[in-house]
Amino acid sequence: MGACLRIDNLSVWFEPSPGQRQYAVRNVSLAADHGETLCIVGESGSGKTMTAGAMMRLLPHNATVEVGRLDIGGQELMGLSERELCAVRGVRMGMVFQNPTAALNPAFTIGNQLEETWRSHRGGSRREARERAIDSLNKVGISAPEQRLAQYPHQLSGGLCQRVGIALALICEPEIIIADEPTTALDVTTQAQILRLLADLQQKSGLALILITHDLRIVSRMADRVAVLYAGQIVETGDRKAIFSNSAHPYTRALLDSIPASSNGRHLETIAGTAPVLSYDDPACAFRARCKFAQEACASQPVELQEVADRHLARCLFPFVANAARGPRGE
Ligand SMILES: Nc1ncnc2c1ncn2[C@@H]1O[C@H](COP(=O)(O)OP(=O)(O)OP(=O)(O)O)[C@@H](O)[C@H]1O
Ligand code: SF4
Ligand SMILES: [Mg+2]
Repeated sequence: MGACLRIDNLSVWFEPSPGQRQYAVRNVSLAADHGETLCIVGESGSGKTMTAGAMMRLLPHNATVEVGRLDIGGQELMGLSERELCAVRGVRMGMVFQNPTAALNPAFTIGNQLEETWRSHRGGSRREARERAIDSLNKVGISAPEQRLAQYPHQLSGGLCQRVGIALALICEPEIIIADEPTTALDVTTQAQILRLLADLQQKSGLALILITHDLRIVSRMADRVAVLYAGQIVETGDRKAIFSNSAHPYTRALLDSIPASSNGRHLETIAGTAPVLSYDDPACAFRARCKFAQEACASQPVELQEVADRHLARCLFPFVANAARGPRGE
């Protein structure tokens, strides 16, 4: 299947004072195919939400974005007017947010929000919009959808609100769903149900799912491909097997080592130290201050993403290589 979403060289930065750039995302390139789940994983502050926001062209007003290419199914999004972008958002891309109640408007019924979303993008009669709303609630496994249409968000549980959030993202039948930590605010049982629902919907409709999470256990269950973000940069990317069985970057290995042994809902342990704020004039490895394997060269030499196996890239001067002792490649 062809590429559904493609981003080349995305950077997002803030200027806390004139002339001083702080990068939230730096030179990120990603692609997702139809029917594929791409998981973006990283610690808090690594740039996951800014990356998702840039895909939707929804970023804080003080953010500056620079991107070589951003397209959906061949349609270039950079350069579109706000009105043209509105037509793309919701129709070709749907977004599922972390906090399901905050994503819904408390002043309107569920039916109102679903029907208005449909009519604002697709037009048509109220009756058709209502049918679409019911169909969308059915798709996300909500029973008695006709009755739910009359309810307000505060009358629903967190899990049901998230199902409605997914129904809202799906109603116009987008090609891509971007889900930013869609289960973080939910209890463990509801988390599992929502993840199963997203996987089912993706398989049935063949859409591309961009799933953003800090939790590698979710990645191991859901991902076809994985991008590991650190300090706004991709430090490793590959298919699920490459990341979980042959990870090449010390940061990915540290993340894997910090997965709690029991699945009792705890978050990932943090790795000692904190991520640096990225400025452009430091091309050396951003992970060096926390890396157990750092060598002198790591502080002085530029480090780029390099291929360590087919479609498996790592940003490390001394990556782990499958079936080889640790050390500079080839040594
Ligand atoms: N409006 C803003 N102004 C200045 N800096 C910001 C703003 N929004 C985000 N940032 C910075 O951008 C960086 C990336 O933030 P982002 O929200 O993408 O992280 P994240 O990976 O989604 O984290 P989390 O897991 O906590 O949601 C952070 O360092 C953050 O402080
Ligand atoms: S480049 Fe050096 S410091 Fe950075 S991850 Fe690789 S070994 Fe560690
Ligand atoms: Mg975030």
